[in-house]
Amino acid sequence: MKKLLFIYRYIAHWLKATNEHKINSPFVFNLVTNVIYVNQGYYSFKKIEKLRKQLLTSNNKISCTNMGAGSTITSNKTVGNIAKNSAKSAKQAQLLFRLVNFFEPETIIELGTSLGISTAYLASANSKTPVITIEGCEEAAEIAKQNFKHLKLKNIEQVVGNFDGIFPKLLKARKKIDLIYIDGNHRKQPTIKYFQQCLEKVNEDSVLIFDDIYWSDEMMQAWKEIKNNDQVIVTIDLFYIGIVLFRKEQAKQHFMIRF
Ligand SMILES: C[S@@+](CC[C@H](N)C(=O)[O-])C[C@H]1O[C@@H](n2cnc3c(N)ncnc32)[C@H](O)[C@@H]1O
Repeated sequence: MKKLLFIYRYIAHWLKATNEHKINSPFVFNLVTNVIYVNQGYYSFKKIEKLRKQLLTSNNKISCTNMGAGSTITSNKTVGNIAKNSAKSAKQAQLLFRLVNFFEPETIIELGTSLGISTAYLASANSKTPVITIEGCEEAAEIAKQNFKHLKLKNIEQVVGNFDGIFPKLLKARKKIDLIYIDGNHRKQPTIKYFQQCLEKVNEDSVLIFDDIYWSDEMMQAWKEIKNNDQVIVTIDLFYIGIVLFRKEQAKQHFMIRF
């Protein structure tokens, strides 16, 4: 039933959304045509996807304490199952890579490492950009650590623990936010809380990326609240992810784009 509802939401989004032809903002038009709709392969993509394939075949079981809304099972999931159900698809993760290339953030923060697939994409875009990634499941974080080593990614700092305790401390220690990717604890209140914590450190160039904005009613409500926030200027809703921008030179506008 949940799957059917999700398909319904996807179709509804597709019908409402547009492509590049109906975008009246030059900045967003450029972002859509030169970043979102680009289909260019990079060497690192091949390496990461090869690793994903290996993870998908793994029957090794790991035990995790459920800290978010994504699953009710707290233990004994196979690595293959996690790779199949939790990791961003190649298409979506490669978009993260391109967004990093385009926005050139000084630092990236990710909430939700899991096995490290999305982290690997974020980190591969620029080996000089530090990526701080937080994960609550120790055993998943350990596998991610091995994956980063295997991919020779040296710009990743892993933090293991609950977002609720770690994220505010991490933000407190920084002057500004460049790019934050929130892919964990997909419930309304935590999502809004992380968003509000971000607001204290955002500037005109900050980019927030929220994952799974149509995953549940709660996430749809959270996304609506984020869009309506006064500080938010531009949002780009790609169904699987929502991009939030704070560019003061633009009028407040929300874009629904087919991707
Ligand atoms: C969807 S997965 C992340 C997938 C990953 N970004 C990728 O695409 O490869 C979400 C992860 O967030 C973690 N998580 C959820 N709630 C959390 C919390 N409150 N604190 C720490 N980790 C949490 C889960 O353990 C899970 O591994």
